[in-house]
Amino acid sequence: MTPHIRAAKGEIAETVLMPGDPLRAKWAAETFLESPRLVNDVRGMLGFTGMWNGNEVTIHGSGMGMPSLSIYANELISQYGAKTLIRIGSCGAMQKDVAIRDVILAMTASTISTPSRGILRELNYAPCADWTLLKAAEAAALAKASNVHVGGIYSSDVFYDERPDLTEQMTRHGVLAVEMEAAELYTLAARHDCRALAVLTVSDHLLTHEALPSEDRQSSFGDMVEIALEAAFA
Ligand code: ADE
Repeated sequence: MTPHIRAAKGEIAETVLMPGDPLRAKWAAETFLESPRLVNDVRGMLGFTGMWNGNEVTIHGSGMGMPSLSIYANELISQYGAKTLIRIGSCGAMQKDVAIRDVILAMTASTISTPSRGILRELNYAPCADWTLLKAAEAAALAKASNVHVGGIYSSDVFYDERPDLTEQMTRHGVLAVEMEAAELYTLAARHDCRALAVLTVSDHLLTHEALPSEDRQSSFGDMVEIALEAAFA
């Protein structure tokens, strides 16, 4: 047990998928895993462990934003031995050639601040995905005929951003999309010798102001779960 996870030792798998929303964790576990069992519900943050193709998997919510993800990822890694952590979530596109529903595999995650800033201090550390996961996820996404982009994203501390100049610079520098968790996940994984990746679908577009219709959200989310599972056990 940890302050935020009530699972007993051994109830969390080495491979953990992390959606932001705990109810998505429940849906994904019930849809894709065999014999899923609830292993955490502290503060309503749900985690389930079950089997996928003979492999043990945990699907655990991260909450929104890097401070929340940092709590769960730290405890999953250091108290439960998680080794492969894959974020599955949504993002806002920042490039003209990226469309709503496209899949983005985050090769790097730029940031202006993460919970790790306090220890990295003046170092502009470059958080990056695990290459083996990234390669396998690209193959899985292409096999599904998803429109997939591999490249840099931005992990923001704010959803309601008031820095249009910063967004403009990121678009100019080829950043594909914005979300709120990957940079800290990648930094923690590097620090603890784990593998990490963020598999994202575009839910909104910062340039065109389009948004993914709510009826399409479940199927996009399902595609990400499958891509993440295939990449984890490739
Ligand atoms: N996640 C999905 N869309 C986002 C946006 N526009 N900003 C930050 N995080 C997001």
